[in-house]
Formats: sequence, structure tokens, C-alpha cells
Amino acid sequence: MKYSFPDNFLWGAASSACQIEAACATDGKVENVFDHYSRVYPEKFANATPDDEVDFYHRFPEDIQLMKKLGLKMFRFSISWARIYSSVDGPVNQKGIDYYNRMIDCLVENGIVPFFDLFHCDLPMFVVDAGGPANPDFPAWFERYARTCFAAFGDRIQYWSTMNEPSINIFGAFCGGTCAPYLTGMDTGMQACFHMMLGHYRAVRAYREMGLKGKIGSVNHFEPVYPETDSDLDRVAADRCKAYYSGIWLEPIVYGRYPKIVTDIPYVAEHLPENYAERLAEEFAPSDFLGINYYNPNFARWKEDGKLCYETFIPDHISKDAYGFACYPRGIYDAVHYLKEYYGDMEIVITENGYGSARTGDLAVDADDPYRAEYMQIHLRELCNAIKDGVNVSGYCCWTILDTYEGGAGGYLYNFGLIQVDYKTLERTPRKSFYAYQKIIEDNGLN
Ligand code: NOJ
Repeated sequence: MKYSFPDNFLWGAASSACQIEAACATDGKVENVFDHYSRVYPEKFANATPDDEVDFYHRFPEDIQLMKKLGLKMFRFSISWARIYSSVDGPVNQKGIDYYNRMIDCLVENGIVPFFDLFHCDLPMFVVDAGGPANPDFPAWFERYARTCFAAFGDRIQYWSTMNEPSINIFGAFCGGTCAPYLTGMDTGMQACFHMMLGHYRAVRAYREMGLKGKIGSVNHFEPVYPETDSDLDRVAADRCKAYYSGIWLEPIVYGRYPKIVTDIPYVAEHLPENYAERLAEEFAPSDFLGINYYNPNFARWKEDGKLCYETFIPDHISKDAYGFACYPRGIYDAVHYLKEYYGDMEIVITENGYGSARTGDLAVDADDPYRAEYMQIHLRELCNAIKDGVNVSGYCCWTILDTYEGGAGGYLYNFGLIQVDYKTLERTPRKSFYAYQKIIEDNGLN
């Protein structure tokens, strides 16, 4: 085998509550941003709501059997805050706790390591209505929710992530107005960013205090950013872009501070919360691992615009999947090398990587997906090379196990699943890529 992975490598697949559970108002669950805004602005969600999802809520026993058949060692999923609480200070919803307990037990009984996120972009509307993460009370609300989850599920969950892709969420949802709840303005964005980090630190501290035995960290996307030319300005543009887009979350996670290259930008500096540096340093709580979602690289050039002073682009020779992600396998190698160099020798888990194809509606056509298998193979070869170089990567999660609701924009227009779902009957059919991944897992590597 040319590309063998270490023993005990965690072959995984990822998904999230708000993208496959459905049962949106079942057993006491209240509205989150996707439930709410997909009704308010259906056109932004390709006229689909999370209620039409694949109903993992009721069908997880069958789906976990398929995961077992695949040979999965780890399943990354998330807990829906809106199933556990219905207000920032109200009582716990026991039915929500019972559901996750049943599901987590089922994973454990089938020998699958549970990796759970506390928050995967699905902010409850009761948090939005109370001011969202821009409210200084957000860290306390999040800590309360985290403690409840640690107490209820912490004996079985081996990996915890506090938040999924917070920086994308911050720039899209709380600053750029491109995803729900569509807030705009740098002040709101910087406040949200800061309070979410404090929420993360407090959850990590609570976890340590509770003496639980698993690992805790968070999941962020990471894009290696390449300068368009060798000029000093383009290189600054690329470094800025990397630090603003990803480092703004990763650097405080690892070092308890924001990247200087970002706080030095006047456009950012004037919106930073008061005493942010002291407060980050004071509340800092170190993580056990870095969860990294890798889909695409980015390219940057300098642009004098009085704001961030860079613009990004993808060169024409790099192909994209139907969803719009640039396919650049070398990027996963560069990403983990960069992370090792910059953030030290922390354990890295690739928490997402996957291929979005257009749903044609013809089930036979959509199940035949050699491109998805190839996408995984070319990325895994690069990842294996990085591991051989000494980068500490302990696992890889394919995005995703079952076809999925894309809250960002796509609704059900795209397929990412190893398992196809017929949305009329909810019948599950493993795709070609499922069998390709099964073989990789069985061989613990590939040629
Ligand atoms: C990353 C997000 O975590 C996930 O929710 C989303 O479906 C994938 N990107 C694909 O867009």
C-alpha cells in the first residue's frame, strides 16, 4: 500500500443536526435560524426548509447501521441547542436530552467514536432575539448550555468541539449579512467574534472543571492563501487574508490573542471591543486539538480599498465542484503543514472535506459518483504525505454521510453524501463513493 495511514487513524464522516435531523418542532424543539429564515426568505434557501430533511431524528438506528457497514471509526455530529433549551434561562428539555442519549448510545454500541459539536451555525431564535453573540451575556448562555451537554453526554463523547466554522459564521451571519440571521456591520461582527471566543473559553474551562475524560477544542475552516505574485504587497495580502478569515479564530484558540497582522489593520482596530487583548489573555483556556475543515484554497492580491486591502480569487485553471469549492488537493497538505509550523505540534483532526455535485434528480445518475471517490483519494494521498512528514493528524472526516440540507444557500440543490437519499421516499442508497471509502478504511490506506 503506497499511502498507509497510522494504526488507529480515525476514519470518520461528519454531519450536523440542523442539516439532517428534520423533526424541527418535535419533542419540544424550538426554532433556530434555519427553521425561521427559510420561511421568511424561502428564495435564499432554494425554497426548502429543514423540515424536509432526511429525518435522521427518527431513522438514526438504520443510518448508524450503514455507518457500521462503511467501517466508520468516528462520526462527527452536532447537538441542536434549540432541542436542549427553549430560552436563555429556562429549564432543560428532557426529551431533547433523551434523543441524543439514545443516538450516542447507538453509536457507542456499534463501536463508533462520537465527536460532537455544541454549535453548528444553527443559532436558536431565542438567542437571536436576545441580541445573539453580540450580547455580552452570550458567553454565559453558551457556558450554561455547554455544561448541560457535558453533564448529560460527557461520559461517552470522546471529542467535543464548541463551535463549527465560527469565523465563517461570524463574517457571514453577524457582520456580512449573507447568512441567517443576516446581521451587518463591523461593530456587531467584532462583538460577536469576541463573545463567541469567550463562550468557547468558558466551555473549555467548565469541561476541565467537570473532570471529563475526552478532548475538547473547536472546528474551524482553514484555507491556505497563496499570493498572486511575489511582490511584498501581494504577500501581505495573502497573510492578511489567512489571518483575518481563519487566524482570527485559530490564534486565540491556541495563543489567547488575536493575530497582530489583523489588529494592526485600522479598519478592524476601530471596531474591536474595549480591552479585548487583556480579556482574551485573562479568559484563555487551551484546547486539546484543532478541528479543521478543508475544502478549498484561496489566492489573494493587494487592493487599496481603505478596508482590508486585499481581494481574493481562484485562478481559472483550478476546477470547481458544482457547489463552487475549488478542488486543490495540494491545499490540504499545505494547510496542515502551515498549522504545524504556526500553531505548534497540536493534534489536528480533518473534520470536513467533501465534494458537492449538482442534484440532477435522476437517482441512478446521482448515485454513480466516481468523481466524489476520486476527490477523496487525491486529498487523502496529500494528507498521508503530510503525516509521513511528521504532521500530527489523527483523523479524517468526509463531508458527508447522507445527503444534506445546505443552510447557506443551496437547500437541496447539491449532493455531498456518501449515501444518497431519495427525498420522496427517504430511502437510503450507498453511492459508489461509499464503497470506495469502505475499501480505504478496510485497507487503512490507498494506492
Ligand atoms: C462546511 C459546513 O460546516 C457544513 O455545514 C456545510 O454543509 C459544508 N461546509 C458544505 O458547504
